Amino acid sequence: MVSTPFATAHGKPLFEYAGDDPRLNRLFNEAMGSDARLIMSVLIKNGKGVFEGLKSLEAALELWVAKAISNAFPELKCSVFDLPHVVEGLEGGKNLSYFGGDMFKSVPSADAILLKWILHDWSDEDCVKILKKCKEAIPSKENGGKMIVIDNQKGDDKPFETQLFSDVLMMVHVSGKERNEQEWAKLFSDARFSDYKISPILGLRPVIEVYP
Ligand SMILES: C[S@@+](CC[C@H](N)C(=O)[O-])C[C@H]1O[C@@H](n2cnc3c(N)ncnc32)[C@H](O)[C@@H]1O
Repeated sequence: MVSTPFATAHGKPLFEYAGDDPRLNRLFNEAMGSDARLIMSVLIKNGKGVFEGLKSLEAALELWVAKAISNAFPELKCSVFDLPHVVEGLEGGKNLSYFGGDMFKSVPSADAILLKWILHDWSDEDCVKILKKCKEAIPSKENGGKMIVIDNQKGDDKPFETQLFSDVLMMVHVSGKERNEQEWAKLFSDARFSDYKISPILGLRPVIEVYP
């Protein structure tokens, strides 16, 4: 794994550090939760089609969002997968469950896997490893399998300073970067996905449906 300025300053990578520091873990997860509430409420309202036909969904999302999805789609079996310290103590519900694990080792099976703000945390090489693990966990395209990627996308039509700021944030705290459409397409193809479809939802972030 690539070293980062954060790891140099604090002796370990951000996600490991958060696992050892309950205060940072709580603050970080709350920050992610506030953003997830905003974007997922827009997606549930305006982009319902993304979830149509799915029987099961695997995602790393905070409690409110996972509950909102499982309530909006009662037929959908929704599971939340993240590092053990993130999901520890969280209680599931009728169509909602939580799993702790490492996505570089294996990802629980589902019809669709939703990765929101996951891939921009990682280098191209690590993204391909994550995407390949996800591909092993979903059915073929013909059988309804897909990835749902919600992440930033660089482009000339987007606010330039926000793109640069986010790029620097990813390079300093984690080993990732922001990507344009060509860079996303290359990752999907390197991980042996056959096709993708990009639909705008909010600001810099589209939803990208990626097919095995
Ligand atoms: C930028 S946050 C995004 C959180 C959430 N998807 C959202 O957008 O609200 C990245 C997430 O990846 C999780 N993560 C990091 N390394 C992981 C790993 N090896 N396996 C599973 N999850 C991991 C972190 O714990 C963190 O919750």
